[in-house]
Amino acid sequence: MDKELISNGKIKKLQPETLMTGYGYKPEWSEGAVKCPIFQTSTFVFENAKDGKEFFEMAHGVREPGKHGAGLIYSRINNPDLEILEDRLTIWDNAEACAVFDSGMAAISTTVLEFFKPGDVLLSSEPIYGGTEHLFEVVLAKFGIQTINFGVQHTKQQIIEMVERAGAADKLRMIFFETPANPTNCLIDIEMCVDIAKHFSTKEHKVLTALDNTFLGPVYQHPIKHGVDLVLYSATKYIGGHSDVVAGACLGPKELINRIKSLRVALGSMASPLTGWLLMRSLETLKMRMSTSVQSAQEIAEWLSTHPKIEKVLYLGLLNEGDPQYAIYKKQCLSPGAMISFIIKGDEQASFRFLDSLKMVKLAVSLGGTESLAEHPAAMTHSAVEPHKRKEFGITDNLLRLSVGVEAAEDIIWDLDQALSQI
Ligand SMILES: Cc1ncc(COP(=O)(O)O)c(C=O)c1O
Repeated sequence: MDKELISNGKIKKLQPETLMTGYGYKPEWSEGAVKCPIFQTSTFVFENAKDGKEFFEMAHGVREPGKHGAGLIYSRINNPDLEILEDRLTIWDNAEACAVFDSGMAAISTTVLEFFKPGDVLLSSEPIYGGTEHLFEVVLAKFGIQTINFGVQHTKQQIIEMVERAGAADKLRMIFFETPANPTNCLIDIEMCVDIAKHFSTKEHKVLTALDNTFLGPVYQHPIKHGVDLVLYSATKYIGGHSDVVAGACLGPKELINRIKSLRVALGSMASPLTGWLLMRSLETLKMRMSTSVQSAQEIAEWLSTHPKIEKVLYLGLLNEGDPQYAIYKKQCLSPGAMISFIIKGDEQASFRFLDSLKMVKLAVSLGGTESLAEHPAAMTHSAVEPHKRKEFGITDNLLRLSVGVEAAEDIIWDLDQALSQI
């Protein structure tokens, strides 16, 4: 399937959800199979030795890819399931290129490692996914890479001063941020981060911006349109969407993605052919799944906000017009998403009682699957965050996180209601 169709001299540009059913694949490549098969092979036979030599030259970047792309060599380097999936993923974010990985953390770690050396500095938003925080604070620190943190409460000027005060102005290589932030749904202004990166960029060194778009993307937030260089995903979440595969992706300009792919070959952090195939299958229903979950999430958040046992609901669809977060929301988000956090009137014991009383919603971490999942961030996903930081971010003992799935909203509400009645 091509991106555009032509009839009677008129061009029809196809929508992303249409392209997810077949873009980048031609049935004649595989005996007429309507769907791309799983190319479950470790290596590919060359027609002749000259081809083999040229394919390696393409892989090393010393020869331009031919009209059918770079030749297939070995599944750590390339594989049709990964290449077709990568082409499809570029559609939503309008990116030049994509690299897929065997986990969101593999995508983040491979991307970050490619652009840093000892002595460099990373500027990172907080709160951020715990695994990413561990990578930055513990793993990168071992290699002499320092991380400076900023939060939603900081202005552009304060962040610039923070970097300057730390003597990091000429060492800053990347701004990494997550918005909406997990688990509070706080928003970081994308435009502000792009401006800060420009402020510290020089002719020799462009400071890169990298955004973890897992919560709203790829359907409801398009960071590249707002000037971001690299967009990252835990494809385990909405892209995979069925809680049955762990994967990741990074999208951006060809030049940067080619560098990341070279390191991916060296580290072996690519996704498997089966993962590529599963994600292609998932992409066909991505928009339907996400839009159903969003519709239910709005209904559930509104219902929760009127419940007598709920103190506060943290959901983008409930932001008030006067709130500075609302202005950021209108600028960069296309929907409030399907992640709801809420504070109950009670303590950890009451929170656990609520979770243990759920009958249909599953008590599990992760998000973005067809089934609704509930968890306790302070004791689970964010338990490794230092207690004083948890307090600062509002990750309290009575905060709960809900990933709304595609079940009937009335069933989810019934389950939440009966579990709330137990506390
Ligand atoms: C926002 C975010 N980024 C990255 C990750 C890491 O992804 P993975 O578990 O696929 O490695 C997660 C996992 O929960 C996440 O929530």
